[in-house]
Amino acid sequence: MSDLSSLPIATTADLDQLRKKIRGWQRDGQRVGFVPTMGALHEGHLSLIKLAQERGSRVVASIFVNPAQFAPHEDFDAYPRTLRDDAAKLANADCDMLYAPLASDLYPDGFATELKLGGAAQGLETDFRPHFFAGVAIVVAKLFNRVQPDLAVFGEKDYQQLLVIKQMVRDLDLPISIIPGPTLRERDGLALSSRNAYLSTKEREIAAGLHEILTGFARDLANGTDWETAQGKALAKAASAFDRVDYIEARCAATLAPLPAGPVDRPARVLAAVWLGKTRLIDNLAVG
Ligand code: PAJ
Repeated sequence: MSDLSSLPIATTADLDQLRKKIRGWQRDGQRVGFVPTMGALHEGHLSLIKLAQERGSRVVASIFVNPAQFAPHEDFDAYPRTLRDDAAKLANADCDMLYAPLASDLYPDGFATELKLGGAAQGLETDFRPHFFAGVAIVVAKLFNRVQPDLAVFGEKDYQQLLVIKQMVRDLDLPISIIPGPTLRERDGLALSSRNAYLSTKEREIAAGLHEILTGFARDLANGTDWETAQGKALAKAASAFDRVDYIEARCAATLAPLPAGPVDRPARVLAAVWLGKTRLIDNLAVG
């Protein structure tokens, strides 16, 4: 970790250094915004940094590829690690500090605490990645305790994750405002994602279809079609475009609870996860 000092943004893996810097800002009356990431940064991540800056805060970003949120068969080893490029992007975006902790520091020998999540964590991603939100929540809780920000920004791209974090913050009385950031997309609608780097040229063309299918699903719901019919139509389209469909569902936007039968009578969200080859894509849209 000795070469962190050569990066183009103030970077530390050291908790004392991190705290010293942040306490200094807070003593000066400055608010601190936090944007946790797993790196391989793209414009979507950078838009969250900008959002935190617009809230009038100093901004700390973190990069940590969190082993706790990957199952053994998932892409932890393959996940892109591009620290030097990421640091340059953060410096360009006028981010104030990068925190890049080590796994051995966050999860030392003997680490044994787990979080059990209900509510917004039920169903959708959890049906296919049962380990996932417990892993996200534990690392976000630890990072929140380490950084102690005034606000933290999370992308709507991972809508269920955003609601799970909001729920955890509410349930545990953490004094942190959670700010949602809109999803940044390519011109053809594909949501920016670090995992898009896995897609072949052919898969990349097909991938944009997910946004189109979700747009049609949301439009049908907004037009008063009952959700069962609209979902059936979206599923059929997705099944023919993609190698596998984990889910395409409409849920209550505020809680992710299932909707009552029939036309949608409350703010709703359509959410999907599909596979192209070895790449899993997730996306979601507001209805109306
Ligand atoms: P990561 O996938 O790196 O995403 C970091 C943040 O960027 C998340 O809040 C995510 O929702 C947001 N984001 C990703 N793509 C986006 C896009 N196209 N537009 C806007 N925001 C986007 O999500 C994680 O990391 C991890 O689970 C983490 C919260 C860091 C815990 O390990």
